[in-house]
Formats: sequence, C-alpha cells, structure tokens
Amino acid sequence: MSITSKALQTGFFGTYGGQVVPPALQKNLDELSAAFLTARKDKQFQQQLHQLLRTYANRPSGLYEAKRLTDESGGARIFLKREDLNHTGSHKINNVLGQALLAQQMGKTKLLAETGAGQHGVAVATAAALLGMQARIYMGERDIKNQAMNLDRMRLLGAEVVSVKAGQGTLKDAVDAALQAYVSEPDAYYLLGSAVGPHPYPIMVREFQRVIGDEVLEQMKQQVGRLPNAVVACVGGGSNALGLFSAFIPHREVKIVAAEPGGLGRDSRRHGLSLLCGQTQTLHGFTSKVLLTNTGEVAESYSAASGLDYPGVSPELSYYYDQGRLSSVPVTDAEAVQAMVILSRCEGIIPALESAHAVAAGMELARKLGKEAVIIINLSGRGDKDVSHVVRDFPELITTQHRV
Ligand SMILES: Cc1ncc(COP(=O)(O)O)c(C=O)c1O
Repeated sequence: MSITSKALQTGFFGTYGGQVVPPALQKNLDELSAAFLTARKDKQFQQQLHQLLRTYANRPSGLYEAKRLTDESGGARIFLKREDLNHTGSHKINNVLGQALLAQQMGKTKLLAETGAGQHGVAVATAAALLGMQARIYMGERDIKNQAMNLDRMRLLGAEVVSVKAGQGTLKDAVDAALQAYVSEPDAYYLLGSAVGPHPYPIMVREFQRVIGDEVLEQMKQQVGRLPNAVVACVGGGSNALGLFSAFIPHREVKIVAAEPGGLGRDSRRHGLSLLCGQTQTLHGFTSKVLLTNTGEVAESYSAASGLDYPGVSPELSYYYDQGRLSSVPVTDAEAVQAMVILSRCEGIIPALESAHAVAAGMELARKLGKEAVIIINLSGRGDKDVSHVVRDFPELITTQHRV
C-alpha cells in the first residue's frame, strides 16, 4: 500500500501521524474524514474547486526561470514556482479554498483558524467573504506585532481576530487556542493551515496543496523537457513543501530539500529545526518530530519568520526524512534576510521571509550541483508583510549595497 493510501485510511505515515484527541473531537474528525474522502472522488466538488483555483486564485502559478539569480549563484539553472502571485499572496489559498468548500458542503457556517505569519488567516478571511461565512482567526500576540499588515487585512475582510497572549504568543499558542475553541464549538469548522494536526488534516492539506508539484511536472515538461535535479521548499508545518514534493517523491533521481528555520543558529537552541533536531513526541493531536527540552517538554521554537516558528513538523515529512528520501538544510534568520535582499535586487521579486529560507538553501544547492543541473525553488509567498519588520530588525543587511 502506498504511503498516501495508507494515510488516507489510517492517518499514519509509518509510526508518525495518527489522532490523539479528546473524545469531544473524535466524532468531528470522523465526520471530517468521511466528508473529505467523499469530496476527493466527487467530480462536482473537484470541478468547483478547480474553477475557483483558476478564476479566483489565479492558477496555474508561473514557473519562472530566474536567470540573474542563477548568475548570482554561479551554478544550476534556478526556476521559481511563483506561489507568491496567487490571490492573497501565498500558497495558503490552495488549501483554504479546498477546505472552505468542504466546510460549506458539510453545512458549516463558521470557520476557525490559527495563523502565524497571517497569510493563512488572510486566506481564510478571504474564503469566508467569498462564500458568505463567518471567520474567527487566532494569532499569537508576538506575531501580531510583526505582521501588523495582515492583521489589518483580516479585519478589513470582516474576520474576527483573537490575539493569543498565552505561551510565547506564536503559532503553537494560536493552534492551542484554535483547537480549544473547536472542542467547545463543534458546530464550527476548524480550517487548519498546514500539514499538521490530527488525522485527516495532514493528508487533507497535502492533497489540497499538491496542485503545486503537479503543475511543476507539467511546466518542466514544456519548458525544459525533463525532470529537475532538485526541488527546494521552506518548512514550517510543511504544507508548501509537501505541495511541491508530492509529485517528485516517486522520482528517486530528484533530490528533495527542506529548508528549515535555523533562527539564531543550531547551537543557540533558538531555532525551529524540527526535522534536524526533533524527537518523536505528540503535539496538537498528532505524533511527529518535535523539539524537546532536556527534560522532555515541548521546547520553544524560534524564527524571525513567523510562519516557520513551530516546534513540530508534518508527520509525512518526518517519515520521508527517516527514510532518507529528503534532506534538511538549516537557514539562519540572517541568511534568509540576505537571500531576501538578493532576490529583490537580482530579480525584482520581494519574497516572504519564509520563502527566503528556500531561496538561501536553493542558491547554495545550485552552486554545489553545477551548471548542467536544474533546480526548482518554491516561492511560497510575497514579502510585503515582512518589509517593515525586516527593515526594523535587520537594518545593516538591508542598507548594504549589493553589487548586482
Ligand atoms: C509564505 C509562507 N511560506 C511558508 C509558510 C510555512 O508554512 P508551511 O510549512 O505550511 O508551508 C508560511 C506560513 O505562514 C507562509 O506564510
């Protein structure tokens, strides 16, 4: 049985995944699993989703050959998958439209969601406006400070935004709050934004995101005439990464690289390197690689990129990592900001700070693979939301004159 069909039925990727939830949630998740499995095979649902992805979200997103970035890196040809050009500015809309349609089909009228960088929150607020639903978004207090623009966007779109003061005030705390609300309001729909959480969320989010890699396969055929040598994506929970990687997992000759948030450095313990440094643990209703303290508690994660600041990771990515099918590259905050500046000045594209992690790892890989190779970097989102925060916190990196 393939890992996808096993996960569709059981929620397990090897020993990772599963459903560790209070009985109050079990019934909801069973109902959700059944609705998702039906929708997957329902031609009318799929047609409605594809129509929205095309006419509303602006898919297919382009595959752009970044020639000046290639020259700057001095190695493989670099292509950027332009998820930043989707409506609302990131890959999050792919999953949100799928789940919002599913919620509507299930008769739900209210969407609950967590958000870190605010991109998922904006996408949920957008879908709620589109479909005439209510939306309540949970966002950590610290993230609200760094992502003020997205807070205003969510409010303008008519969503209620709850500032989560508990814990560190980041994505993990926002997920805690959203899950708690879901337990007490079972009539609402919890629209999770990454490939994490209890079954069926990890497999469902991955299936709604796999349009990214499916398009790249087709675009590579037309634009280059062969498979890429490597695909690279940043990893927070893992939804944009799995969206791209899924199409390439069976092609063993294609290298798969996850760019993880190295924060202030691997030895600082101020990072979010769940694949590289995590241990098996249950968090938010699923089992995966999770950052732990010396005493076995879930550790605080850290990244300047709010969307990558999460101590766990998708169970499917943990499984592939253990199998040796993907490798992880740590990228520090400073390296990501540097890559953000380089891409902005080489190509006129300001990437999200999350996506800039993939750009940094991709440029390094391009140098290693050499000029005959072709690599794909997933540009998961646009950087408008990060500009004021990066200028404030990294003034020396922004003002340095770059030679290109
Ligand atoms: C632009 C962007 N890229 C990447 C991520 C990380 O999420 P994921 O790992 O689920 O793709 C986020 C999360 O907010 C994001 O906003």
